[in-house]
Amino acid sequence: MVHSTRNMCGIIGYIGNREAVKVLIDGLKRLEYRGYDSAGVAVLNNGKIQIERAEGKLTCLEAKLKKFKSRAGFACPRSKLAEFAEFKLSGNIGIGHTRWATHGVPSERNAHPHRVGDVVVVHNGIIENYSELRKKLIQKGFRFLSETDTEVFCHLINEELKKQFDIQQAIRNALTKVRGSYALVVLHGQDPEHLYVARQSSPLVIGLGKGENFVASDVAAILPYTRDVIFLEEGELVTLSREPIRRASQKITWDPLTAEKGGFKHFMLKEIFEQPRVVNDTLMGRIQPDSGVLTLEGIPKLFGRCGFPFQKVEIVACGTSYHAGLVGKYWLESMARVPVNVSLASEFRYATPVIDSKTLVIPISQSGETADTLAATTQAKKEKGNILAICNVLGSSLARLAHTTLYTHAGPEIGVASTKAFVSQLTVLYLLALEIAKRRGELDTNEVRKKMAELCKIPQHLESILKGAKIIKKVAKNCIRASHFLFIARGSNYPLALEGALKLKEISYVHAEGFAAGELKHGPIALVEKKIPVVALIPKGETYEKILSNVEEVKARGAFVIAICEAGDKHVSEAVDVIIPIPKTDPTQTPLLYTIPLQLFAYTIANEKGCDVDQPRNLAKSVTVE
Ligand code: M6R
Repeated sequence: MVHSTRNMCGIIGYIGNREAVKVLIDGLKRLEYRGYDSAGVAVLNNGKIQIERAEGKLTCLEAKLKKFKSRAGFACPRSKLAEFAEFKLSGNIGIGHTRWATHGVPSERNAHPHRVGDVVVVHNGIIENYSELRKKLIQKGFRFLSETDTEVFCHLINEELKKQFDIQQAIRNALTKVRGSYALVVLHGQDPEHLYVARQSSPLVIGLGKGENFVASDVAAILPYTRDVIFLEEGELVTLSREPIRRASQKITWDPLTAEKGGFKHFMLKEIFEQPRVVNDTLMGRIQPDSGVLTLEGIPKLFGRCGFPFQKVEIVACGTSYHAGLVGKYWLESMARVPVNVSLASEFRYATPVIDSKTLVIPISQSGETADTLAATTQAKKEKGNILAICNVLGSSLARLAHTTLYTHAGPEIGVASTKAFVSQLTVLYLLALEIAKRRGELDTNEVRKKMAELCKIPQHLESILKGAKIIKKVAKNCIRASHFLFIARGSNYPLALEGALKLKEISYVHAEGFAAGELKHGPIALVEKKIPVVALIPKGETYEKILSNVEEVKARGAFVIAICEAGDKHVSEAVDVIIPIPKTDPTQTPLLYTIPLQLFAYTIANEKGCDVDQPRNLAKSVTVE
């Protein structure tokens, strides 16, 4: 099965004999389920490039495309508009895009396609060295019209064209200058016969037609036109024309809904499998393991050039984001030695917290729209707290409220159960802990470099855990009849026990509790009865021996113990019923890895029970009321 799991924005391109704009809009509609903040299309006709872009939903773009025609042509009543209005753009070659903002707020100006001269570009991904390139290009006299990293491509290609390279070579040369991830489709105003497509760490699929060809970021966009596709290889640059492509292709048998999910049964599963990419994107451009330099956007402005000007940190969040905050507390306190308090946003106000200008307040939210988190942040801001948000949605209410925002680059999360957003929040919190530890002189450059080098290995460790998904699923299937589950852990992994239990409760409707293993004897051990599944997180490290003793205690009372532990750990294997092996990593970074089996465990149980995994009963993706 081919899984396509790395998209944040949506891309479509067409060359053939149909009205390109219809294919583009239709394709973009098929990508609509992923959520986005703006969209746009460009069509070439008789050497004339026509572009239309709009902030908001696709209907906003459609309205713009149709309105023009109605003004020029017939004065139809608004309700009749869709009935007979044609699209104002016409031509047989074009590109389209739906944007999930990563650089630059959601707006028409930042929407794709971006055009400079004859070069029109749609892009998916993140250009790591974009500020550097942008600065250089501005010095050379190039004028930027947007705040996006994508526009850098347009200028770089133009710069190469000026050196008399042909368009394909110009693109090739431009690509050598960028670092980061991209799926790129380029339309050139003087070249009605070709589209140029390239990818690196971001997928692109070519759809094969008769006298026409398609390109898209997701196969879902082109399924009504063709099921014969070629998935572009990493680092490829390909020229697309109307001619047949002589290359081995694959036949896609997915129905449209499966295609939206990249071949996975549920969005949640797709999102779990996206996590290696998510961690990679969240780290991208922010760490340099060779020098130990960290580049966290907005931090120098909030913290000053050096030092740490705050006396304490207050983290506020809800649900899964709150659990990320709890892990963050362990990291900030152990590595940066700064006092941290973590509050459920819904409780924050009623606990009368002490906030002042010496407090760094960190609201964490995937959506940036959670009412309680917004209310807590507003209150903290009133009390002169300095707000550093950790958020996944650019331009969200939280990002607008905060003094500075660190983005998580998880891409749109559709499953109600938060998975990839959690791991991306952990990644940002870890980077923040490193930054503050450095500023406070608690970690020297050498230690920071070592931790960064280990962080860089996390995406490949995640890949290897996901490759072993079968083991996790088998373990979960064994527990399908249990009606109570316990999750236990210690230290920085303790919040993961809470998260593992929350995942299971919310999607499979079975009772689960997460405990700090040391608390068992203070009450919860009374719940242990024969065969009750106890999931124990037992990484090597400070609390290893202690949690092994807790495991003995529950085993002695008949529990069925599933251990998540370092691969090859014989002590644990002997002590428990079944193990889920995890690659070795820096002990401080284990929460980034140990989360994945918990997500897959909950997913498998919910799926086996036939629950509505992506939209569990009684739950909404964003809780926008208090
Ligand atoms: O968008 P937010 O991160 O602010 O959302 C917070 C919670 O509502 C969210 O994490 C919720 O707990 C998830 N359903 C958990 O999977």
